Amino acid sequence: MNHAAHNTMEPIYEGKAKRLYTTEDPNVLRMEYKDSATAFNGEKKEDFENKGRFNKAITLIIYKMLEEKGVKTHLVSDMDDINLLVRKVSIMPLEVIVRNVAAGSFSKRMGVAEGTQFTKPIVEFSYKDDALGDPFINDDYAREMGAASEEDSAYVKKTALLINETLKEFFLKANLRLIDFKIEFGRLATDPTQIVLADEITPDTCRLWDVETNEKMDKDRFRRGLGGFMEAYAEVLNRLQK
Ligand code: TMP
Repeated sequence: MNHAAHNTMEPIYEGKAKRLYTTEDPNVLRMEYKDSATAFNGEKKEDFENKGRFNKAITLIIYKMLEEKGVKTHLVSDMDDINLLVRKVSIMPLEVIVRNVAAGSFSKRMGVAEGTQFTKPIVEFSYKDDALGDPFINDDYAREMGAASEEDSAYVKKTALLINETLKEFFLKANLRLIDFKIEFGRLATDPTQIVLADEITPDTCRLWDVETNEKMDKDRFRRGLGGFMEAYAEVLNRLQK
């Protein structure tokens, strides 16, 4: 299949930052990373040149590293500057957030200063539903909403904590402090009993602070209008490639 053919194909799903397309293999999809940035549930929106390219490259590096550490993911292979091939999954309607340091909605909700180190990581769940504003839920809600059984919630939490330890160490080598992040999991189309890490891991979905200066190197630059947004993403990619 050539590039022109790809571009004429209708997406089967379009999200705020990515599109999904079918391929000849019914169990493999093409995931295209878009140049758009959104915040506050899509209220703030802008396109940034190269954003898709940076986020695809960053996700690829991180997913390959996680696979090497034994984390099962939806990644099949790299494709081109803005596309990855991924296994078809049914995304669990859960946003799994891990926090090492207080920031963002935790700081706002709890009145705790951003930058306050936690004694142990916090794992929290949101129910993935834009119309409801992705409400904060626990594993009992997840069970009753049919989002995840108790067993699945426990598995997802344990896996998220393992991913956190691996990511923390990986980012630290790039002089980046992993403050918090959001991940999603999916059930394989070929075997729904298997839950794998799906979706992106990028500065859109992580808070990353420079170890020396505490400078924000993530989407908070866009959310908070700090400037230097794509410069920060370019710098994160550059450090991860070293
Ligand atoms: P929060 O502090 O706003 O709850 O965000 C926690 C982490 O989750 C942060 O790294 C950003 C990420 N995140 C997303 O990836 N998508 C979202 O829709 C939200 C609200 C946060």
